[in-house]
Amino acid sequence: MRIVLVGPPGAGKGTQAAFLAKNLSIPHISTGDLFRANISQGTELGKQAKAYMDAGNLVPDEVTIGMAKDRMAKPDAENGFLLDGFPRNVSQAEALDVALKADDVKLDAVLDLEVPEDEVVKRIAGRRICRKDSSHVFHVTYSQPKQEGVCDVCGGELYQREDDSEDTVRKRLEVYHTQTEPIIDYYRTQGLVVTISALGKVDEVTARAMEALKGDK
Ligand code: AP5
Ligand code: MG
Repeated sequence: MRIVLVGPPGAGKGTQAAFLAKNLSIPHISTGDLFRANISQGTELGKQAKAYMDAGNLVPDEVTIGMAKDRMAKPDAENGFLLDGFPRNVSQAEALDVALKADDVKLDAVLDLEVPEDEVVKRIAGRRICRKDSSHVFHVTYSQPKQEGVCDVCGGELYQREDDSEDTVRKRLEVYHTQTEPIIDYYRTQGLVVTISALGKVDEVTARAMEALKGDK
């Protein structure tokens, strides 16, 4: 399956993607995680992305689209993928359509995670991620690691993301409403959008998502 996951910052995209990708045997491709890996490795791409991310703005399309397409071209994504955080504006969605068309494939669904803003703020405020791999996500209350400050998966140090400060979160939410939400209408015209509530326990949301995707195709 080829799936796009969409939802506001802190909705639980990364958390759900980990389970959905496993259940569906497709790779989880997060442009945010790709940027963070580049930043921690000190690459040129990471240096370009960092200032935009720290300010809560989108990294320019010229950088982002190429990076996402390179990742999707890897062999593990040949038969499907779960995109998390890409596309994030209509021009990225159009670029993705062009790339998929060139490969003669199509998206199966756009899974839209709906969460009220006060819940998103609580989720982000308590989030801790792994220094070694930012796709390993925890929460000080809702998803505690077995040992405080240590990643259950790989033993890495847990820390608070630089862009999770109150001001930057406000900016990221504004960017989501103005630039990312329009892709939901874009995909609605293609009949691809499945909206679910992302409230409740992590495994309840995963079950809801699997059910919605099953009903889809
Ligand atoms: P990105 O990393 O994609 O961040 P985001 O979209 O803001 O989303 P988050 O990762 O903050 O939230 P999430 O929905 O993944 O939630 P999570 O699962 O962690 O992007 C970061 C930046 O990179 C952007 O601002 C931009 O600068 C740049 N960028 C990335 N892609 C780009 C693109 N395509 N174009 C341009 N720029 C781009 O969950 C949050 C917390 O809640 C966790 O602590 C988790 O444990 C907890 N939680 C999850 N589910 C539940 C639940 N059901 N109940 C209770 N707690 C829960
Ligand atoms: Mg994420």
